[in-house]
Amino acid sequence: MSGLEEIEKTDPRLGNERLKRYIREKVNHLLSVMGTKPLSREELDDNTLLELDPIGIIALSFEQILEHQKDTNERLTVAKDQLQAVFDAVGVCISIIDEDMRIVNCNEKQKEMLVSANTEVIGRHCYEIYCGKDSPSLDCPAVETLATGRPVFIREVKKKNKHFQIVTSPMKDAEGRVTGAIEVSMDVTEKKKAEELMRQAEKLTAIGLLAGGIAHELNNPLGNILGYATLLLKDGESGLGPGQKEKLEIIVEQAKKGSEIIRGLLDFSRQSVPAFQDILINDIIMKTVRTLQNRLACQGIKVDTALADGLIVRADPRKIELVFLNLMLNSIQAFEGMDRKGKAISVRAVREGGLIQVKVADNGPGIPEDILSNIFDPFFTTKPVGKGAGLGLSICSGVIREHKGSIHAASEPGKGTEFTVSLPAGVKG
Ligand SMILES: Nc1ncnc2c1ncn2[C@@H]1O[C@H](COP(=O)(O)OP(=O)(O)OP(=O)(O)O)[C@@H](O)[C@H]1O
Ligand SMILES: [Mg+2]
Repeated sequence: MSGLEEIEKTDPRLGNERLKRYIREKVNHLLSVMGTKPLSREELDDNTLLELDPIGIIALSFEQILEHQKDTNERLTVAKDQLQAVFDAVGVCISIIDEDMRIVNCNEKQKEMLVSANTEVIGRHCYEIYCGKDSPSLDCPAVETLATGRPVFIREVKKKNKHFQIVTSPMKDAEGRVTGAIEVSMDVTEKKKAEELMRQAEKLTAIGLLAGGIAHELNNPLGNILGYATLLLKDGESGLGPGQKEKLEIIVEQAKKGSEIIRGLLDFSRQSVPAFQDILINDIIMKTVRTLQNRLACQGIKVDTALADGLIVRADPRKIELVFLNLMLNSIQAFEGMDRKGKAISVRAVREGGLIQVKVADNGPGIPEDILSNIFDPFFTTKPVGKGAGLGLSICSGVIREHKGSIHAASEPGKGTEFTVSLPAGVKG
């Protein structure tokens, strides 16, 4: 027997009251199912109850629900857009991967750092896209998080020649099963480079102090050897036995070479004070070319010079000569073992505003892009042990800095290298 039949059987007045209560309850139940606030007794008075239109109420409720749904959807869209904007705006790379290490989502920074242009990433393996590998690396923090279900805090990993600090956290379902991982990584390549430079600068200071100390100690005895050998040569010109003069000349020559090395060491340790004077830069350039003439001729290297007249710089001639000597020696050494016709070094000098600009260029093998930023670092060399100490360009940059100028390199591998030295023009320059 239904509820209504039961009410009909009882006293009609009592039945009426119960009927109204029953209808109110059902209406409010309907409203609550529809997600609408229940109506109070005043809102649903006897008259309203009599005129009650259940289909109208359902229609109204649907309308309200749809309205509510639309509002919720709009809010959800705004929240999603905001979340995506934050996701993309943060300065770190964020990637979400599933348990098979396939990319579910990643932010713009991640794409910018590790994904080549126009590459579809969603659904692809992260190790393929981000690391360029066929399988994940053993030290990959995401592998560990997926296997253990635990986060990994700050691990340094190298991806595509960049250094990253990575943090990974697991994603789990309601049962606690690992369904994927979130990987947040920060590019620390520049920071590492700065730390490395710092270490090198400290190393350089220590070596500079040591080299400077030794150079000072050796300077005097070597000066004496040179002085006395020269005197002996002069004094004993007439009385020297056969071969003795030649031997003395060798002593003088070797002592001079030793002095040059010591001067180089003092330059390197920045312990020699520059002797500034107004000089014609062309004189220095031509002197350097003359010094290297034999080596240039032996290797069949042509030197082209295009030097504007009257370019005066305020500089220490010996130190500036050392700069051009190092630049040209590097070009000569770069040509070594190169089977190429038309080996050439060109030196051009012009005035550019208040600066004198000298370009030393060669058509040698060039410098690979990935090492171009390191060539001015002290002890950076690509030459075999015993061939280069990696000090030439670091000395050049030190000397040019001392002269308040600048030096930089441009290179196209396979085509050649060009160094540009800029120095403040002298009074009459
Ligand atoms: N003209 C050039 N062509 C090609 N590579 C060059 C050139 N100049 C410099 N380099 C590169 O830059 C590196 C650093 O040069 P740098 O003069 O500082 O040291 P080095 O020549 O190796 O040693 P050192 O000058 O102390 O004998 C070289 O080892 C070489 O790889
Ligand atoms: Mg060199």
